[in-house]
Amino acid sequence: MQELASTTIRLNSGASIPQVGLGVWQSPAGTATRQAVLEALRLGYRHVDTARIYGNERDVGIGVRDSGVPRDQVFVTTKLWNSDQGHDEALRAFDASLERLGLEYVDLFLLHWPLAGKRLESWRALERLYEEKRARSIGVSNFLVPHLTELLGKAKHVPAVNQIELTPFLQRRETRALCRQHGIVIEAYSPLTRGKRLDHPVVVEVARRLGRTAAQVLLRWGLQHGHVVLPKSTKSARIAENGALFDFVLDPRAMEDLDALEEGLVTGWDPAEQR
Ligand SMILES: NC(=O)c1ccc[n+]([C@@H]2O[C@H](COP(=O)([O-])OP(=O)(O)OC[C@H]3O[C@@H](n4cnc5c(N)ncnc54)[C@H](OP(=O)(O)O)[C@@H]3O)[C@@H](O)[C@H]2O)c1
Repeated sequence: MQELASTTIRLNSGASIPQVGLGVWQSPAGTATRQAVLEALRLGYRHVDTARIYGNERDVGIGVRDSGVPRDQVFVTTKLWNSDQGHDEALRAFDASLERLGLEYVDLFLLHWPLAGKRLESWRALERLYEEKRARSIGVSNFLVPHLTELLGKAKHVPAVNQIELTPFLQRRETRALCRQHGIVIEAYSPLTRGKRLDHPVVVEVARRLGRTAAQVLLRWGLQHGHVVLPKSTKSARIAENGALFDFVLDPRAMEDLDALEEGLVTGWDPAEQR
C-alpha cells in the first residue's frame, strides 16, 4: 500500500504528514503496541499517533526502530498531558517523552487538551521546542473556536494541526472553517466512532454499494474532506483494512449521504465544556 506513505498533506512547518496514521490510544503497553506499530509499518503506514497519557511511547519507539524503516520516513506524534502543562513543566515532559520514545526529535508535538489557565504558557514552550527543531511541527488537540481564537491572538507560531474528534456524526463545522482560514490541518481522532456507528444503516448501505467495509467508508469520508485520519487497531487484519483506502472513492451521492449524518456524537470528553 504505497499510497499510505505517499499520500501526504503539507503542514505550515513545511513538513509533510501522511494522511493516514495508526492511533494507539488503549493499545496496551508492551507486545501489543509494538506488534501493531511493526505491522502498520510493514503494510506501508508511515505515521503513528501516541501520547504520554497512553502509556505506550516506549513501545512505539521500539516498534519504529525494529521496523527497519528509516527514522526520517516515519512521522511520529506525541502529546503533552494536562498534568505537565505550564512552560517549564512542558519542556521537562517533552524531554521525558523523547527519552521514552528513544528519539532525538518528534515530527509533531501536540497540546493534548486546552487546559484553562495553562494552555497559553504551555504553547510558548511548544513554540520554543519548534524553534529548537526538536519538535518539527507543533499543534493543538481538542481546540474549538473559542480556544483557537484566544491562541491565535497570542501565538507567535500558528499551530500546524488541530486534532479533534471528527466523523460524519460529529462534524465541528465552525472549528474546521476557522482552521481552514488559518491553514491549520485537521486531524480526525476516533474516526471509526470507536465502533459506535459502524452499523449505522446509511454507512452500511454506502459500504454495500461500493463493496467496502463500514470502517473504510468512514475513513474515506475523512480523507476526501482533506483530514488526516487516525484509526486505532491492534489487530493485523483491521490495520490492513483501515489502510486499504486508496483504490476506491466515495461518489458525490455517498459524500452527501454521509454529510447529512451530523448528530453531535461525542464519544470521548467534550472540549466544548472546557472554558
Ligand atoms: N487527541 C485526543 O484527545 C484523542 C482522543 C481519542 C483518540 N485519539 C487518537 O485517535 C486514535 C483513534 O481513536 P480511537 O482509538 O478513540 O477510536 P477509533 O479509531 O475510532 O476506534 C477504535 C476502535 O475500533 C475498533 N476497530 C478498529 N478498526 C476496526 C475495523 N476495521 N472494524 C471494526 N472495528 C475496528 C478497535 O478495536 P481493535 O483494536 O480491537 O481492532 C477499537 O475498539 C487514538 O488511538 C488516538 O491516537 C486522540
